[in-house]
Amino acid sequence: MPYHDPIITERYERGVLCQLSVRAPELARAARPGHYVLAHCAPPGSADPLLRRAIFLAGADPADGTIELLIDPTERGLAWLADQPVGARLDLFGPLGTPFMLDGRTRNLLLAGAGSALPALIFLARVAVANGVAGLLLAAADSPDHLPPPFLLPPDLEYQSNADGPAALIGLLGAPAPGATIFASPIAWADQICFALTTDLVTPAADAVRAGRIRWGRGFAQAAIAGPTPCGVGTCQSCLIDTREGLRTRCKDGPVFDLRDLR
Ligand code: FES
Repeated sequence: MPYHDPIITERYERGVLCQLSVRAPELARAARPGHYVLAHCAPPGSADPLLRRAIFLAGADPADGTIELLIDPTERGLAWLADQPVGARLDLFGPLGTPFMLDGRTRNLLLAGAGSALPALIFLARVAVANGVAGLLLAAADSPDHLPPPFLLPPDLEYQSNADGPAALIGLLGAPAPGATIFASPIAWADQICFALTTDLVTPAADAVRAGRIRWGRGFAQAAIAGPTPCGVGTCQSCLIDTREGLRTRCKDGPVFDLRDLR
């Protein structure tokens, strides 16, 4: 998990979101969907703000040595990062965490997310569709400006969204899947489901999967859980999440968990 000294090579404003392409060859080679980086969000030499911000990777291209970040400048650290120009050097630590595990037999992949882990699903959609998997992304946010722009997604990916707030994600899970009969839900259509969730959406998402499947095996539904990660390396114990095996750290034991294991 080395420190990196990467350079911003491209910067685009996507509504309120900011998309950064960052040259970081080592990081790009190691990155997998579900990984995150800890970013120092202040000028060199400044410790204000002190804590690094956790940012889920929205993509990585090992061939050209770049990673992609999609930043929602919801607070001053992320706002500083989103303001940095092309050519600026960043201070990133990572990649960190446990990534998604895509089953090689998966043909129909359902992606469903809201909140700051949502960029991880963009990364996963690109990898899965490039490998011939049929994908459907369901996304919910507080406004259209906070949803992933469709042009960042693979053209073959189906995409449905709702801007009535993050909780609207649960309603989307009951919508008909592409090409399915009116009686089939995306959950019934999927061979595997990968969520990007905030902690308050864990129980409703698990309930939706439980309602939509007769059997629900290990690995079928995974979830990247967003939230503050002050240290990112499992020492401060301030990112604990309740699992069937007791409390676990989101930053190190996650951020991707089997949804069955979460309480
Ligand atoms: S952020 Fe410190 S233990 Fe997870």
